[in-house]
Amino acid sequence: MSESYQTRECDVLVVGAGGAGLRAAIAAAEAGCSTLVVSKSLLGKAHTVMAEGGIAAGLANLDTPDSWEVHFADTMLGGQLINNWRMVDLYSREVIDRVYELERWGGLFDRTDDGLIMQRAFGAHSWKRLCHVGDRTGLELIRTLQDKMVHTAGTDVLMECTLTRLLTHGDRVCGAFGYLRNTGELIVIRAGAVVMASGGWGRMFRYTSNSWEGTGDGAAMAFEAGAELQDMEFVQFHPTGMIWPPGARGILVTEAVRGEGGILRNSEGERFMERYDPVKKDLSSRDVVARSIYKEVVAGRGSPHGGAFLDIASRRSAADIRKRLPSMCDQFEALAGVDISKEPMEVGPTIHYTMGGIRVDAETAASTVPGLYAAGEAAAGLHGANRLGGNSLGDILVFGRRAGEAAASSAKGLGARPAVSKKQLADAEAAVLLPLAHDLGEKAENSYVIHRALQEAMQDDAGIGRSEESLNRALTAIGELTERSKRMRVGGGRVLNPGWHTCRDVLSMLTVSEAIVRCAIARRESRGSQWRFDFPDKDAHLGRINLVARKRRGAMVVEERANEPMPDDVVTRLARSRFFDPATLPLHYAGKVPAQSPEAH
Ligand code: FUM
Repeated sequence: MSESYQTRECDVLVVGAGGAGLRAAIAAAEAGCSTLVVSKSLLGKAHTVMAEGGIAAGLANLDTPDSWEVHFADTMLGGQLINNWRMVDLYSREVIDRVYELERWGGLFDRTDDGLIMQRAFGAHSWKRLCHVGDRTGLELIRTLQDKMVHTAGTDVLMECTLTRLLTHGDRVCGAFGYLRNTGELIVIRAGAVVMASGGWGRMFRYTSNSWEGTGDGAAMAFEAGAELQDMEFVQFHPTGMIWPPGARGILVTEAVRGEGGILRNSEGERFMERYDPVKKDLSSRDVVARSIYKEVVAGRGSPHGGAFLDIASRRSAADIRKRLPSMCDQFEALAGVDISKEPMEVGPTIHYTMGGIRVDAETAASTVPGLYAAGEAAAGLHGANRLGGNSLGDILVFGRRAGEAAASSAKGLGARPAVSKKQLADAEAAVLLPLAHDLGEKAENSYVIHRALQEAMQDDAGIGRSEESLNRALTAIGELTERSKRMRVGGGRVLNPGWHTCRDVLSMLTVSEAIVRCAIARRESRGSQWRFDFPDKDAHLGRINLVARKRRGAMVVEERANEPMPDDVVTRLARSRFFDPATLPLHYAGKVPAQSPEAH
């Protein structure tokens, strides 16, 4: 140890200030725990704001046949049945209460004429289910939770702090180590329990809706501490990101555009989703729509910049469009000079969300490492192979609360907080300061160059469509970049040095990319967002397992974990979805779902 650290102590450390982190912090503080929320960025700036279209909840305010059971069925079918059904069960029941809770805490929603919370259609949801406020729902959710959290006794926030390592005592997590981004000061946080609510990872791909924070630090730290990373092969391409101009490429174009009636057309003016999914059409699930756009482009029917046209102008009045999609109007006007009430938008798939993450227990959000909990996009299980839009904002409310409560109870059960290991601190300090050493001369590597090379490898070889050959190429590239990353060096000092920060981010992204690619290689089938050109069908065995990446003797290994099958009375719920097709049921559920009753539709 070469210097003194800034130190903090709390019962519960929450890593991340998006919706899951804020909801966890409220729960932990309400349970009587001192709770510190650490944000890599500024409060209010999380990726949560990119879930614009709404919170999915079976309120049945507009479509009365909806219910939590139908929501359960849609979510399981959307995830291609490898979701953790217990999580989906808890989620679809509890999200209804969480929406009303948000309303009580001051959250604004659009309203029906009767004053009920307005709900809109979204991809692969049987009924109008997304509670929303225009196309700014994530922002409103964050604003409401933030307001609630800062007024909850026992909470504190530390902004612009990057955590680099979880600290352990025996096999239990007892805090974290990191640095303050503005000053470069090192910090040690001792905690009784840690909730990882650090979100997902899109920045290792070239085109993403994620902002700069989305580098997978939380998953990488959890992995290093011994946690299992599950379902990492499933990375969601949102079908509609901006593709022009180049500086705007990847920015989200909310699914609410299609929820409000917008349709996709190819260069020949054809509404091509009628061909790919005649039932759900433009509101098919995201994996299907993203692949369909890709196929249209490959067939030579793409838009000028390699995507598709999204047309709302011919479907709704200009006044309606401005009222229901104000952010989209502003975004296209400001960034592309396009008036979406008059012209179509040019869109294409963009990396938006990661279904994989830290493997957790459904009820408690506990990871496989004692003292470590995870919620929201950082955790795996709820969404299976493909997430339905609107299920992320619900996820963070339901499992953020559960993780906060469980972490609080775990922290309260501890005696004195264990001492932090001096060796762990010394190692963490040496690792974080290494890029500032000026010892390599011309052999030094530039963190931005490595980041760019990783993005090329992931986008081109582990992107929307993959094969054994392309994935092996990606794995080789990751291996080479990992070697080179050991020689990353940066000029300047610790104060406000983005090159130094990028060195850290690159290490996290390399770990997470390796997990994505290794799991994608092992899943020799196509399912949800995993589209294998060389294995275009589903595999019966793989339909019963989840893959996990974990550390064994210093290296990453991929192992199978049996997916708990749904009991018979739960399987029958699948028939409640309007989109249930008995022909697609895997063999182990065959004959367990009765023919659909007409009133279910
Ligand atoms: O398209 C959207 O508004 C995104 C929503 C989501 O990811 O849940």
